[in-house]
Amino acid sequence: MHAAAPGTTLPAHVDDPALRTELDRTIDALVEQPGALIQVLQRAQELYGFLPEPIIRHVSRRLEIPYSEVSGVVTFYSFFSTVPRGRHMVRVCLGTACYVRGGNEVLSAIRKELDIDVGATTADLEFSLEVGRCFGACGLAPVIMVDDDVHQRVRPQAVKEILDGYRSEVNDDVR
Ligand code: FES
Repeated sequence: MHAAAPGTTLPAHVDDPALRTELDRTIDALVEQPGALIQVLQRAQELYGFLPEPIIRHVSRRLEIPYSEVSGVVTFYSFFSTVPRGRHMVRVCLGTACYVRGGNEVLSAIRKELDIDVGATTADLEFSLEVGRCFGACGLAPVIMVDDDVHQRVRPQAVKEILDGYRSEVNDDVR
C-alpha cells in the first residue's frame, strides 16, 4: 500500500453521492457472503481510483467489520492504494544499469520538478511517482517510463521538458 502523502487533499469525487450509491449497491449484493470485504474494496477502488479514509470507514460500517480490520486488509494487499493516483504514472528505473548511468540523479530531478516523493501524487493529481527495477532497456539507460511511454538516455536537465509534454497533453484534453 502507498502511504498517505502529507498535505494531499481528497478529490471532490470522494463525496459524489452517485459513486456512494454505486458502492452501496455492491455492498448490498455481497454483504451476506463470506469474503465480501476484498470484493467490496476492489469495487471501491475501481469507482474512486483509490481507497480514501472516509470510504474505508463507510465499508467498515456497512459490513460491520472493525475499521482496524478493514484498514489492515487495505495495508496488506499492494494493489490497494490509499492515495489518489495521478493522471500520469512516472516510473524511474533504478536497476543496476540505470543506477550507474545516473538514474538516481534523474529521480532527484523528477522529485524536485514535481515536488513529491516516491509513492506520492502531485496535489493537482497530474502525476504519481514510483521507481522500478529494470524495464528491459538497459542498453539505453537511464530509462524512465511515463504511462506506457519509454524515455531513454534521460538526463536530469531533460526532465522538465519530458514532463511538460504530458502537462500539455492534460491541457489539450480539457480544451
Ligand atoms: S536497469 Fe534500467 S532498464 Fe534495465
